[in-house]
Amino acid sequence: MKFVFASNNDHKIKEIRSILGDSHTALSLRELNIFDDIPEEEPNLEGNALAKARYIHRLTGMNVFADDTGLEVDALGGLPGVKSARFAGENKDFSANIDKLLAMLGSNNNRKARFRTIIALILNDNEYLFEGIVEGTIIDERRGSEGFGYDPVFIPSGKNRTFAEMELSEKNTISHRGRALEKLRKFLEEEACNKNN
Ligand code: IMP
Repeated sequence: MKFVFASNNDHKIKEIRSILGDSHTALSLRELNIFDDIPEEEPNLEGNALAKARYIHRLTGMNVFADDTGLEVDALGGLPGVKSARFAGENKDFSANIDKLLAMLGSNNNRKARFRTIIALILNDNEYLFEGIVEGTIIDERRGSEGFGYDPVFIPSGKNRTFAEMELSEKNTISHRGRALEKLRKFLEEEACNKNN
């Protein structure tokens, strides 16, 4: 199936294409010449993911999916959460966001955190939500150069390397977005089966 993925984040597009494989085509907004700054003003990830998907669906009339992700840090009461992109300001600076996070955590021993992704799908005018979560800890220095966002300071549970120290394929098998996308992929597979029966 062919979809618009409502994002221009090259890292995400790479992750998504590698997970969805050849049976689905995910077009980026850039490939459709859409450069709108899509509003992300809802109070939670579900609302933002749906708002992005609806915005692009209205614009293109195509099947579309969008994701919204937050890093939820226990010692900060769930912050940065839905504010993850703009934690340190409107210019969505990954490095400044990490600086602010580490400063707020200081020497706090409770480093428990999780990434949570919500994917909103609009397929044939129906809306669906998929969730993916990965638990982990925040370390107090940056490690690794892969990935994006908070990857250099996040170690997923059961591993001893940050997401930024992992190959994309390894991150995809355990990540929040990988898990949500796997649910999306299975759902699309079932839809295709139902259509053929
Ligand atoms: P978005 O709204 O889904 O783009 O995500 C909000 C913010 O969360 C991004 O700007 C990144 O800072 C962060 N983020 C999202 N996904 C990831 C990830 O896979 N690794 C690290 N940070 C991420």
